[in-house]
Amino acid sequence: MRRACERAIAQGLPAIAFTEHLDFTVWHEDDAATSRGLIDRHPAHQMPIDVEGYFAELAECRDRFPELRILSGVEAGEPHLFAASVAEHLRNSPVDRVLGSLHSLSLHGRLVGVGRLLWDDADVTMRRYLTEIVRMIEQSDVFQVLAHVDFPRRYWPGGSDQYVEKDYEDEYRAAFRALATTGRALEVNTSSPLASVDQVRWFREEGGEAISFGSDAHQPTAVGQRFDLAVDIVEAAGFRPGRDRFDFWRR
Ligand SMILES: [Fe+2]
Repeated sequence: MRRACERAIAQGLPAIAFTEHLDFTVWHEDDAATSRGLIDRHPAHQMPIDVEGYFAELAECRDRFPELRILSGVEAGEPHLFAASVAEHLRNSPVDRVLGSLHSLSLHGRLVGVGRLLWDDADVTMRRYLTEIVRMIEQSDVFQVLAHVDFPRRYWPGGSDQYVEKDYEDEYRAAFRALATTGRALEVNTSSPLASVDQVRWFREEGGEAISFGSDAHQPTAVGQRFDLAVDIVEAAGFRPGRDRFDFWRR
């Protein structure tokens, strides 16, 4: 975390958020995952968050780097399926920023990573994915930012350059409309293949208000990766810096 902060400062970033993955492999009986008939997750190597270690290091970084705004956070995976579990976690360990993300879809009673599902049928999986994003937005209000809206494109069969964004315009627009209705921010994820100007413009046309930049770094050296390109794209799509340096970008 310290090295990530150093990198953020070197890049001239005003703020950084450490959004730990919050993915459940066991869950509450009253989570929707249970009523949807899900019994487990595959793969299920996700580890619990080391909450104590995390907050200790965060505090140390805040002391060491007063010039950087350092946000605590989680990236809640499939939060609409785990509302009770997510709520319990956040009750015990509140954070500044919650991302909502979808990495998996159901298959025969299990949550399965989309990378695997793409190999069966990429087109069907992509449409299912974007439809599930709409449900996630409509059924969960715990997150403020929608992470990597088209996560499966990272794993597109034959390479992500084979992915044709335009083929899914209707599905993207439905997701963006749902997100815009709730006033929440769309993340432009710079670890994923970059969104096109068209895609960000679809969000704007559907009423989207706010954009967040996420480097999804996982390693200090990737903090702020390709933000220069991302800024150009977001600007070309009609968004501008927000109220201050720490705000989302806005229309
Ligand atoms: Fe993610």
